[in-house]
Amino acid sequence: MTPPVLKKLLQLALWAPSGDNTQPFTFEILAPDRVRIHGADTRDWCLYDYKGHASHMAHGALLETLRIAATGEGLEAHWSLVDDNELHPIYEVVFEPCAGLSSDPLLPFIEKRVVQRRPMKTTPLPSAPGEGYSVQLFESWSERLHMANLLWRNAYLRLTCPEAYPVHKEIIEWRARYSQDRIPEQAVGVDPVTARLMEWVMAKWERVQFFNRFLGGTIAPRIQLDWIPALACAAHVLVKADKPPVGLRDHVQAGVALQRVWLTATAQGLYLQPEMTPLIFRWYARSGERFSAQDALNTGASALAGDIERLGGFGQDQALVFLGRVGRSRPPHSRSTRKDVESLMVRTSG
Ligand SMILES: Cc1cc2nc3c(=O)[nH]c(=O)nc-3n(C[C@H](O)[C@H](O)[C@H](O)COP(=O)(O)O)c2cc1C
Repeated sequence: MTPPVLKKLLQLALWAPSGDNTQPFTFEILAPDRVRIHGADTRDWCLYDYKGHASHMAHGALLETLRIAATGEGLEAHWSLVDDNELHPIYEVVFEPCAGLSSDPLLPFIEKRVVQRRPMKTTPLPSAPGEGYSVQLFESWSERLHMANLLWRNAYLRLTCPEAYPVHKEIIEWRARYSQDRIPEQAVGVDPVTARLMEWVMAKWERVQFFNRFLGGTIAPRIQLDWIPALACAAHVLVKADKPPVGLRDHVQAGVALQRVWLTATAQGLYLQPEMTPLIFRWYARSGERFSAQDALNTGASALAGDIERLGGFGQDQALVFLGRVGRSRPPHSRSTRKDVESLMVRTSG
């Protein structure tokens, strides 16, 4: 394979999703058929990247997308972990020509897959498969209402949490329709008036506190971003792992599964929005770790974890790796784009 073809495959694989479009990796081309992916994570500034798990899932989604992309060139791609340091894992991907290999049926959907954060139709779903994991759907009106109420309370935790404020401030590119490395304002899912207000309020934590305390500042965004979308969808999809993920490799595998579920949904004409924060708060709560200095928020996260377990009919030990809502809609008018592959290249080791 020539370097331009390899870079083309990497650029295509970059369309894999990552939390807040952080794209936590760089590339090192070792040989025409071999590339190293240097993983990173955002746990030092992002409350939601609990122990780097969300970033590890993004690495898995990237590796699976690269594997699918390679089939378009008649190549099989195999990845291995050459350094399993959870802070800076290194993955090596080797490409091999394979006579008669047909391209993966999910290949045409790599670039079409996109988050839809706005309301979607409630038309019932065809099946949404998950490889090696079980999928539980919450489709009925009462299940979606239960989920809407759960997400309403979850959003209160997010929006009033001082430790989450720097993250929210960082990840939105205001007044933008496209964003290479963040979420553009128009893909967030609020109307333009609310967006202007959010931009002004979020510039200072004191303003956020004042708005939340005296002016019901969490209500408009919670209605638009959480409650209505939770009802306006075909179903919420919960991906459960058969056994609890323990290390880096298991979380990378969860990312492979996440990307397969999302691409399969795209292939079926469905859009999806991850709803990861209730699971992330549950990860904290069930491991007994505090994410906030405010006791009420940690207690709220524990209560939310119990509510998810009651809704799903499983216990505290059940491993949950992904939650999202799916449905049909028109394509979103705004989306995150990606960094240029050249900007993610590290010097070749020689
Ligand atoms: C592990 C993971 C967690 C995510 N969590 C959320 C989430 O809680 N809410 C949300 O709206 N999007 C979430 N996303 C979607 C990303 O924000 C999105 O993939 C990224 O901004 C790129 O946009 P695109 O998928 O439309 O290309 C998540 C993605 C990943 C991989």
